[in-house]
Amino acid sequence: MKVAIVKERRAHERRVAASPDTVRRMVGMGLEVAAETGAGDAAHFSDAAFAAAGASIAADAETVLAGADIVLKVQRPLTGDDGGIDELKHIRRGAVLIGLLQPAQNSADVEAYARAGILAFAMELLPRVTRAQAMDVLSSQANLAGYKAVIEAAAEFGRAFPMMMTAAGTIKAARVLVMGAGVAGLQAIATARRLGAIVSATDVRAAAKEQVESLGATFITVDEAAARTAETAGGYAREMGEDYQRHQRERITEALKRTDIVICTVLIPGRKAPVLLTSEMVAELAPGSVVVDLAIEAGGNVEGSGPEEVATTPNGVKIIAPVNMPSRVAADASQLYARNLLSFLALLVDQDKKLKVDTGDEIIKATLLTEDGAVVNPALAPSVAAGAAAATG
Ligand code: NAI
Repeated sequence: MKVAIVKERRAHERRVAASPDTVRRMVGMGLEVAAETGAGDAAHFSDAAFAAAGASIAADAETVLAGADIVLKVQRPLTGDDGGIDELKHIRRGAVLIGLLQPAQNSADVEAYARAGILAFAMELLPRVTRAQAMDVLSSQANLAGYKAVIEAAAEFGRAFPMMMTAAGTIKAARVLVMGAGVAGLQAIATARRLGAIVSATDVRAAAKEQVESLGATFITVDEAAARTAETAGGYAREMGEDYQRHQRERITEALKRTDIVICTVLIPGRKAPVLLTSEMVAELAPGSVVVDLAIEAGGNVEGSGPEEVATTPNGVKIIAPVNMPSRVAADASQLYARNLLSFLALLVDQDKKLKVDTGDEIIKATLLTEDGAVVNPALAPSVAAGAAAATG
């Protein structure tokens, strides 16, 4: 079976879906691997490194996709809509496509995968069960995003993070507040602590308190009773009501008086991110403070934050809202993402090196978007499934 690694061409994307390490392992599994020239450049993996690992190097996307049985991507393939190249057109019927396909936001693309007869897998739909941990792309990428958020905040901050006692006087430790203590938030806490900051954090899920405290940070409880019912069976947070939000804004406004840096990481799966910091709350911060909004792609946690800008408010607070934070740590993000895909691939290739798609497997079932010309994923809106069925007749 042939595996294709295509260069990522979407804006802000520096990652690649394979690393020299995973190419070597795929070749070891008996797969034939081809990489488009320059596919790993932005993540510091050269063509020579891919070739040394056993990949053949193809001159362009069309050549690498021709005859591929499995296509590994970070972002969804281009469809030519924006006047650029059409990668989807070159993926053959019956081929497997694996990537962060964002199906909920891109239903027209999902319908196009069905029409093209592709077996498309969206890695963000992976169930968070123990067996899937090695494939968990959301965790591997969020962890690096949390780390980088603190590093970027430190770079914009006109002061140091650690307390320093020098002959010229003492510098106070920076105070960091982390909103949302999931995978990204916990890594942000750990990173800020390593840099010597005094850290506090809040989360709606009751279980987060112990995790925050075990990292040496202070937990800010908003509403104990609400926290007990805030977690879904899947481990995610529910969307909280008006009462909780009001109470949270009061508690956080108080905490902001003693805060230099705020890292916002709050997401609700399938919904717009909640606004945690209003403009009035940001105005409570002292000049020179820094806010990082990691939720910007889901609408943002900070009122008025805009993608990719470092905005400075009238009272001198910097707000950073970077799109695709994992891509700013492209080498490590690609390394981990590639290993996630490799683990997933092992589910799809049988001992005879043939493709086997076992829809009885909960991991396959949850991630498979399209099969036999139809949208088959139960998590997608019925309108998507109906639209695709009509289009394929
Ligand atoms: P996420 O990216 O969906 O959200 C980030 C954090 O924001 C979460 O901790 C969430 O509780 C919090 N949050 C949501 N609404 C909030 C609000 N209004 N105010 C304050 N905080 C709010 O979460 P992520 O990082 O994907 O993790 C979700 C859960 O999944 C965690 O419990 C994590 O430990 C768990 N998990 C389990 C894995 C497994 O394999 N079993 C793997 C990875 C994560």
